[in-house]
Amino acid sequence: MNIHSEKILILDFGSQTTQLIARRIREQKVYCEIHPYSTSLDDIKKIAPTGIVLSGGPASVYDGDAPLSDPAIFDMDVPILGICYGAQLMVHQLGGRVEKAAKREFGKADLSVKYTEGIFAGLATGIMHHQVWMSHGDRVEMIPDGFEATATSDHSPFAALRHKQKPFVAVQFHPEVAHTLIGTDVLRNFIFGICNCSPSWTMSSFIDATINAVKEKIGSAKVICALSGGVDSSVTAALVHRAIGDQLTCIYVNNGLMRIGESESILRFFREKTKLNVIDVQATDFFLSELTGIIDPEIKRKRIGLGFIKIFEEEAAKLGEVNFLAQGTLYPDVIESVSFRGEAPIKSHHNVGGLPEVMKLDLVEPLRELFKDEVRELGLELGLPEEAIYRQPFPGPGLGIRIMGEVSEKRLEILRKADVVVLEEMKKSGWYRKVWQSFAVLLPIQTVGVMGDGRTYENVIALRSVDSRDAMTADWSKLPYELLGAISNRIINEVTGVNRVVFDISSKPPATIEWE
Ligand code: XMP
Repeated sequence: MNIHSEKILILDFGSQTTQLIARRIREQKVYCEIHPYSTSLDDIKKIAPTGIVLSGGPASVYDGDAPLSDPAIFDMDVPILGICYGAQLMVHQLGGRVEKAAKREFGKADLSVKYTEGIFAGLATGIMHHQVWMSHGDRVEMIPDGFEATATSDHSPFAALRHKQKPFVAVQFHPEVAHTLIGTDVLRNFIFGICNCSPSWTMSSFIDATINAVKEKIGSAKVICALSGGVDSSVTAALVHRAIGDQLTCIYVNNGLMRIGESESILRFFREKTKLNVIDVQATDFFLSELTGIIDPEIKRKRIGLGFIKIFEEEAAKLGEVNFLAQGTLYPDVIESVSFRGEAPIKSHHNVGGLPEVMKLDLVEPLRELFKDEVRELGLELGLPEEAIYRQPFPGPGLGIRIMGEVSEKRLEILRKADVVVLEEMKKSGWYRKVWQSFAVLLPIQTVGVMGDGRTYENVIALRSVDSRDAMTADWSKLPYELLGAISNRIINEVTGVNRVVFDISSKPPATIEWE
């Protein structure tokens, strides 16, 4: 069976939880894609969705510049679920009325369900209330012809609606967020009960389909892949290797800016457990000389990126004719490169860019459809070690952008020693997997301290730990004082040249995760 023969299309109206809708649907093993609300009717027909979800969004349907999708989607004979703004849009486009509410409804609300059918199949009705999550300033005042209310809340007689004959349903609350306790039921009822999807999007079906697609695309050509030791490139390499075996060569460039043991374990795995070809280039001296005297963070990044391209090109040239570059682009990168208004990218990616253009290679991106948690699942299924799969993200320019000021061998050594303490303590306390990223930063100042009987004038380490879903926004992790104390004690005792540790309590925005 073609794994894409059934799919849910999510039209994005700019809600912060649009990606979450997609993840919740994928968790049910149904494939779905997010596209901007402005996608043309022709393109929607080409996508041929089994069902459509209209996401939430910050606008009001009655605003002059409100994002509207083509109303002809309601003539496509496809089930449609409107969520929050999407619900209001359905009402507005089908002849009902939406107005500004006297009071914004935000947070938990009690939902009273009228029918145990459709999206509420299996749920209790009447006096039994269900906790849902609301976030809206507008409300439905008049429902379109043919519709009826299926649930009410304290604030609204129209908290959920359905068309009496057609497969159109709308909910004012957000079924995708965890605070909506019946959210999974609602989404399952929509995709299985109303759209009649089957749970066919599994990792093993994805692996089979992707291996076939990669084989077909590559034929007998040669492929190279930059292996960094991170999850995405490791899983890409393992998957492409399954498809085309030794037509794939991986190049690992040690730029001397890695953490202790950061890449060795993954290289060992590929060497010992698979027959993957890995060229291992040791280029520490080259990168350190490129960085001598460089203080400006952007110049650092550029030098490291260009250095990488230079070495990669030299190595690739030795392989003869190569046509493809395998890259670990993930679905969030694909969505983020088009904003919901279909405009320019929201975020420019700081991965080693420019390689495909410089080398005139075609791309193979087998993870383009996957979220990070799906990539992890895939990696485990492909037999990659857990330790590699659950590794925290690590930036391409490595420790180079965690040393404020000039990068030197001596300062790298200080940072590496402090960094390994952070990792060890985070793992020992069980916090490593709870946070998005945690690491040490070496500051360009010295401060006074006292050790034994003597005065010291030494370096400061900043500890950074953040919680995040996708690195676009982040909050500093509320690590326990005991853990902070243990990390600080060990760094000051074990790392010569450091006499002070501080904890970074800034969120992103306005700060960023990395310090440079
Ligand atoms: P910022 O510092 O922008 O980081 O909040 C967001 C996420 O991206 C990682 N990061 C990078 N990753 N090359 C990379 O491959 C880079 O130049 C780079 N800069 C930041 C950062 O670790 C975080 O996960």
